Amino acid sequence: MPAAGLTKAAVELAPGVHWVGALDPHLRNFDIILKTANGTSYNAYVVRGEHGVAVIDTVKESFADTFFERLESVARYDEITTIVLNHLEPDHSGALPELLKRAPQAKVYLSSRAQMMLKALLKPSGEKPPEYIPVTTDDTVNLGGRTLRFLHTPYLHWPDTQCTYLVEDGLLFTGDIFGCHFCDARLFNDTVGDFRFSFEYYYAHIMRPFREYVLDAIALIEPLDINLIAPAHGPILRHQPRDYVHRYRELATPRLFNEAKSEKTLVVFYISAYGNTRRMAEALAAGAESMGGVRVSLYDLEGGESGIFTDLIEEADGLAFGSPTINADAVKPIWDVLSSLTTVNVKGKLGAAFGSYGWSGEAVRLIEDRLRGLKLRVPLEGLRIKLVPDDRELSQCRELGEQLACHLTGRAAPREIEFSQLQATPA
Ligand code: FEO
Repeated sequence: MPAAGLTKAAVELAPGVHWVGALDPHLRNFDIILKTANGTSYNAYVVRGEHGVAVIDTVKESFADTFFERLESVARYDEITTIVLNHLEPDHSGALPELLKRAPQAKVYLSSRAQMMLKALLKPSGEKPPEYIPVTTDDTVNLGGRTLRFLHTPYLHWPDTQCTYLVEDGLLFTGDIFGCHFCDARLFNDTVGDFRFSFEYYYAHIMRPFREYVLDAIALIEPLDINLIAPAHGPILRHQPRDYVHRYRELATPRLFNEAKSEKTLVVFYISAYGNTRRMAEALAAGAESMGGVRVSLYDLEGGESGIFTDLIEEADGLAFGSPTINADAVKPIWDVLSSLTTVNVKGKLGAAFGSYGWSGEAVRLIEDRLRGLKLRVPLEGLRIKLVPDDRELSQCRELGEQLACHLTGRAAPREIEFSQLQATPA
């Protein structure tokens, strides 16, 4: 639903607690990579205590006027004692410089990582800087009859992120987590349109690469009494808010049934124009399988789209990619899978590349560069074989598979010694 119908006044969440954010119904692309069919919202909040007023997050700079208009409808600037920054990305900190000018007496509560990042976001203005107070889990601010308690929840979705819990009311201000790009002037989850798709899409594209951090955050959040979750984007979750916490736990928990829990998993992706790279893939897979302790899966990318492999990739211990070289490059289906690796956490997984080539053979090195760029371990040199692999070259593929298996299982790799390189030892 468009923003029409929403007045410029703040919207009450609880007595003395208001939404003062902004709606951006025409946005279609967020952070370049994220599509949104009906825009988004930038949610900011005001909490009034007996001793002062707290502002939690701000909005994108181009929506600052709306934010200040709503803020002024519930508080004076000289009442603001506290500014909480749950997340510094510019869609939430865009109006911060102006807020600091209007409420220079306010103390700014943020994570220690945020304090470091803020220096790069707020270039020196010559004005007296505010008082920054780094906080972590269980640190509190007393607003008078109301207590803000902080939760250290980094990487949701930048290193700086935190959540803020309003203890007496059971309200949790979460920044990006539990948010989604869904713009609806009715604001609350029990009154807006169906936003389930946006909620899941947001998790998959923003939070999924950080799922271990999501689980850490959920462990802090689950014990809380929660009456309402107030995220930084999308609907405010006042109806059955705990369902969304449960859903996040489900989403962040490994999904695939693993029959062989004690085994490591190696997934081998390949594509082959004339069967040469396929024979390499099969030999590599057979070599890895022969070592025991590794469950090997072989996938021809000619038979699948990259998206269907995301769960497998996320849970694999090792990934090997085989591509022929065409026009001095790896082929598109391989790049499609490689680009999908950014949506999951692949840091530290074992990676390898191989492929048959005609005359130049750049594909293997390019794949290895990409894997290293994504912080996979690539300890073994990739295999490039000119055109049709012969028996000796297929043995090399098999050995590469064996060595990958050894790296995965932590066993010493078999060491082959060239007799020609041995020197006579002096008596
Ligand atoms: Fe909504 Fe990570 O910013």
